[in-house]
Amino acid sequence: MRLLATRSVRALEEDLADLEARDLLRVRRRVGGGQGPEVRLDGRRVLCFASNNYLGLAADPEVVAASRTALSTGGASAGASPLVSGHMDPHEELERAIADWLGCEAALVFGSGYHANIGVIAALAGREDAVFSDALNHASLIDGCRLARAAVRIYRHGDLDDLEEKIRATPARRRLIVTDSVFSMDGDTADLAGLVEIAARHEAWLMLDEAHAVGVFGDDGGGLAAARGVAGRVPIRMGTLGKALGSYGAFVAGSRALVETLVNRARSYVFSTALPPAVVGAAGAAIRIARRERTRRERLWRNARRLHEGLGAAGLRLGPLDSTIVPVILGEPWAALSVARRAMEEGVWAPAIRPPTVAPGTARLRLTPIATHDDEQIDRAVEVIGRAARQEAR
Ligand SMILES: Cc1ncc(COP(=O)(O)O)c(C=O)c1O
Repeated sequence: MRLLATRSVRALEEDLADLEARDLLRVRRRVGGGQGPEVRLDGRRVLCFASNNYLGLAADPEVVAASRTALSTGGASAGASPLVSGHMDPHEELERAIADWLGCEAALVFGSGYHANIGVIAALAGREDAVFSDALNHASLIDGCRLARAAVRIYRHGDLDDLEEKIRATPARRRLIVTDSVFSMDGDTADLAGLVEIAARHEAWLMLDEAHAVGVFGDDGGGLAAARGVAGRVPIRMGTLGKALGSYGAFVAGSRALVETLVNRARSYVFSTALPPAVVGAAGAAIRIARRERTRRERLWRNARRLHEGLGAAGLRLGPLDSTIVPVILGEPWAALSVARRAMEEGVWAPAIRPPTVAPGTARLRLTPIATHDDEQIDRAVEVIGRAARQEAR
């Protein structure tokens, strides 16, 4: 028995060594204190361009105070899944606030974006159905497709002709199109007008993952569907509470029938403990701020434009600025790691993203400015990353 265990451990060690040799080993960095434009990393302050805390709400005093109040009144845990005894007052209030914000009949709060995506797809698409998924969708949507018993067709990234061809060629009782609205690693956006047209033509459902869009797009931060004027034509909108909304968890918003179906059929909802009240209280406060404070969103976008323009002028390889995510393509994993390491030495955290998260040959830095960076911090990042990339290219 012990011999077997030792052999298994050795196999794991070999696997890890292989990952390291290919510059693909992942390690965690330990952050001290809270999230913000700067964080404490291994005891020193660094500028952080690594988080999805887009509106800078994770450590906002109003959000923290609301969380504290919910903790004092509701306690530390929801104690059970929502269908048992975990659906508490703060959860109900948050769902109503989300539905009101997004102009939907109802919303349902999930444990995380990952939970939501794996739960929704399998709940809506069964054996006789088909799911159509963009090739660059987030891993949680991919895993949701894997869990569903439906036929899964992957269409080329953003290629709506390919999508339509696949829909035509796939007989199914029910068709579900799933896509990120903002693609998390490239920062590009889906053609929502085109997608709603295709969905209407083929009587398909459209599910949008707005994880990187809520709080960031739209007059009151309602997401990309709201910003592009198609919200009423997207029956399933999913968003996360742990990114721009500075808390944790996720929601699905749509019709009452959709929400009731998920309450009954989404296994990741039914069989998982509800979010703790403190987390839900924080999310509620963050939504109020996101709706109310347009200037925060404007600062986020101004920062993204300043960073993008600065890095472009420094000669780095960038795509167009479609969202507030700024990827700097560097090619091979070692190049991305090396530039990230040099930037870190100068106090700028610019995370390297490597395969399999992105396609081979497109390893990159993924930079995420937030609303609470100031001009000086953005300019410092441009200077440091530009220099690091030039040194690497020599
Ligand atoms: C597009 C997208 N969807 C879903 C998720 C998962 O959300 P969560 O972190 O709340 O599990 C992420 C997280 O990174 C994401 O980028």
